[in-house]
Amino acid sequence: MGTKIGCREGDCGACTVLVGETVNEKLSYHSVTSCLMPLGNAAGKHIVTIEGINAHDLTPVQEAFANEGATQCGFCTPGFIVSLTGYCISEKTPGYHSAIDAMNGNICRCTGYKSIERAAKTITDNLQQRKQPALDYAIAQKIVPAYFRDIPKRLELLGTPINEKNEVARKMGGGTDLYVQQHDRLHHEDLNFLRQDDELNKITRLQDTCYMGAAVTVSQLAESAVFKNAFANWDHYIKLVSSTQIRNMATVAGNFINASPIGDFTILFLALQAQIKLNHAGADRILPLQQLYLGYKKLNKEPEEIITEIIFKLPGRNDLFNFEKVSKRTHLDIASVNSAMHIQMNAGKIVYAALSAGGVGPVPAYLSKSSDFLKDKEASIDTLRALLKMVQSEISPISDARGQADYKRLLLAQLVKAHFITFFPGLPVDKIVALPA
Ligand SMILES: Cc1cc2nc3c(=O)[nH]c(=O)nc-3n(C[C@H](O)[C@H](O)[C@H](O)COP(=O)(O)OP(=O)(O)OC[C@H]3O[C@@H](n4cnc5c(N)ncnc54)[C@H](O)[C@@H]3O)c2cc1C
Ligand code: FES
Ligand code: FES
Repeated sequence: MGTKIGCREGDCGACTVLVGETVNEKLSYHSVTSCLMPLGNAAGKHIVTIEGINAHDLTPVQEAFANEGATQCGFCTPGFIVSLTGYCISEKTPGYHSAIDAMNGNICRCTGYKSIERAAKTITDNLQQRKQPALDYAIAQKIVPAYFRDIPKRLELLGTPINEKNEVARKMGGGTDLYVQQHDRLHHEDLNFLRQDDELNKITRLQDTCYMGAAVTVSQLAESAVFKNAFANWDHYIKLVSSTQIRNMATVAGNFINASPIGDFTILFLALQAQIKLNHAGADRILPLQQLYLGYKKLNKEPEEIITEIIFKLPGRNDLFNFEKVSKRTHLDIASVNSAMHIQMNAGKIVYAALSAGGVGPVPAYLSKSSDFLKDKEASIDTLRALLKMVQSEISPISDARGQADYKRLLLAQLVKAHFITFFPGLPVDKIVALPA
């Protein structure tokens, strides 16, 4: 009863619950917005609502909220408490900012956030005393009830859920796109729950190539050592995408197939020249990601085909890679325009470049002419000036709720300049007019 429905679109966090599962023989929990979570993805998992945290007395998290006056109407409160409790039982090194991050998918419309932040501070001060595994400490402190200790055994008794593969059924990743669009219709459809397939949940590195299962979530990417080692600013890019709860559910393949012209991971993987493996009736075909998009939401893909794997070369130690996103709000917002760039240099010259851009045409765009243009060019202001012109010739933005066409042209020019500022800090990039007449 405590789990609330506020927006039913993944935005407010009032419906937050925890999902517990045994991964590599270790029990771990992550928060999700239950309004978008397919029931099939709950099979074999421990679902914790606010009632599952409550015992007879207030928990320290609830007490901190009460003491700081961090609740008024109370509608958002179960969601905040569940998110922060999930943080307390994760093995993340406790710290004020990461505690706040754990609640970045929760919105409160009465209290104001200062009192909630103070409650988070009280809790992180408590967690800093922790000298034992997070769950043991949380049980000892009565942050969660003692029954959590039995959960691994209970999950074992439940066994592995049977996932009948039905190729014609609609493919379901995290549901964060489908359930926003077609909530009621999906209740009556056969669904193919790809998150339940272990084979689709792996990230493997073989020499310089990464093979990533299509049902890997954004949070799995966030924690992946393969990605952290390959991308210097990986944590920053991840934080630009939605909220903790949505990242815990959303898959990368879902981002590709949703075919939004501004899908963040589509833009990022376009600049990595990723390939996708599509499977139907046991047969595989490999397609460059850029060839998936034929027109607005029109895909080079049969309805039965499933993306099973995403394959790409990891940037080398000396490669330059950058992702930029402009949105109306910094967090929990989709992009007005986004862009990624990958560059390799040799002896002061660009020997390889790949540039992608979203929100500037009907499909997520790989800017092939601009990318090819950069080959064998020096990293100079003249090169950038010519590149900015070339980029404008390759895009066709329209005016919509996220901005006028001219504004999006300007935004992309600024993002390309931002790539250059990141890669070549010495260049006087600010001297260049982004959109020459
Ligand atoms: C509150 C909120 C914030 C968001 N913020 C962002 C954001 O900042 N940036 C962003 O890019 N997106 C954002 N999104 C959109 C969405 O979360 C992402 O696009 C996400 O990656 C979709 O993945 P999913 O697994 O949840 O997709 P699903 O809803 O499960 O599926 C989406 C589509 O892909 C198909 N599909 C899924 N997996 C496969 C597969 N392996 N093979 C074939 N077809 C498949 C499904 O049939 C469906 O058509 C946001 C969504 C919400 C609700
Ligand atoms: S009801 Fe708002 S996120 Fe689920
Ligand atoms: S206390 Fe009312 S919405 Fe947060």
